[in-house]
Amino acid sequence: MRFTLTATALLASLFSANAQNFNNNVTGIEGTWSTGSGAVSTGGQICIPGTLETTTFTYPNNTGISYAFTEDGFFEEVRYRYNANATNPQCITGFISWQHGTYTFNGDGLTLTPFQSDGRIQVQDPCAAVTNQITYYNNVMQMKNWAIIVDPLTARYTLNLNQFDGAPLPPMYLIAKPPNMLPTHTLTGTNSSGQTSTRRRRSVTSLLKQLVKGESE
Ligand SMILES: *[C@@H]1O[C@H](CO)[C@@H](O)[C@H](O)[C@H]1NC(C)=O
Ligand SMILES: *[C@@H]1O[C@H](CO)[C@@H](O)[C@H](O)[C@H]1NC(C)=O
Ligand SMILES: *[C@@H]1O[C@H](CO)[C@@H](O)[C@H](O)[C@H]1NC(C)=O
Ligand SMILES: *[C@@H]1O[C@H](CO)[C@@H](O)[C@H](O)[C@H]1NC(C)=O
Repeated sequence: MRFTLTATALLASLFSANAQNFNNNVTGIEGTWSTGSGAVSTGGQICIPGTLETTTFTYPNNTGISYAFTEDGFFEEVRYRYNANATNPQCITGFISWQHGTYTFNGDGLTLTPFQSDGRIQVQDPCAAVTNQITYYNNVMQMKNWAIIVDPLTARYTLNLNQFDGAPLPPMYLIAKPPNMLPTHTLTGTNSSGQTSTRRRRSVTSLLKQLVKGESE
């Protein structure tokens, strides 16, 4: 999908990129936003939440982060990353997480409050006793501030989110508007915190190897 930019939007973005106040946006936050090549996206392509036994994660070809927002206060988040292990290069640990819930604007900032029961994270650790584990995930996100600019190189709408401590998340491009999202209400109803389930996935190591070969974001 292409997004046509007006000269006004472009001009506004040039100003906002340099502005002291980071709380600027040349377009609304509504939409699905994704880093880099857009391999990671909200909307059920990556995670279908269920019980710990039935939750499925479908691995994207690349790492990345994706956020989706509705205009009326709902968000969805997917993050896929790995940590390299300098001591033991084959012991790369992969993390893929999904959560959704509601968000509010707080002054310059954003507060993302997940539906507690729905979030899921899968940790892949080929060197651990349990190589592949899905657990509950409920991570309230405080964004100190945010901005939407037009990226000067790609001319795409770009969402910048600065975390609670001001550290920026990688820039995210608008990839869908309206957003691709799973239904914006509690989906699983399960809530036994601390409960974990493990499952075997033969390809953990090869998945992670493939990931490291590709370009990470
Ligand atoms: C900025 O974002 C808010 C929230 O999505 C939206 O209501 C507002 O219209 C946006 N401003 C512009 C100039 O697009
Ligand atoms: C991932 O990459 C493979 C081949 O490299 C390709 O066939 C597949 O369509 C890609 N998947 C996605 C979701 O882009
Ligand atoms: C690296 O892998 C070893 C297992 O070989 C593990 O004990 C260690 O905690 C790992 N280090 C990091 C930083 O993950
Ligand atoms: C889930 O369980 C936790 C801890 O027992 C509780 O604080 C929370 O309110 C529960 N959430 C829901 C949605 O039932």
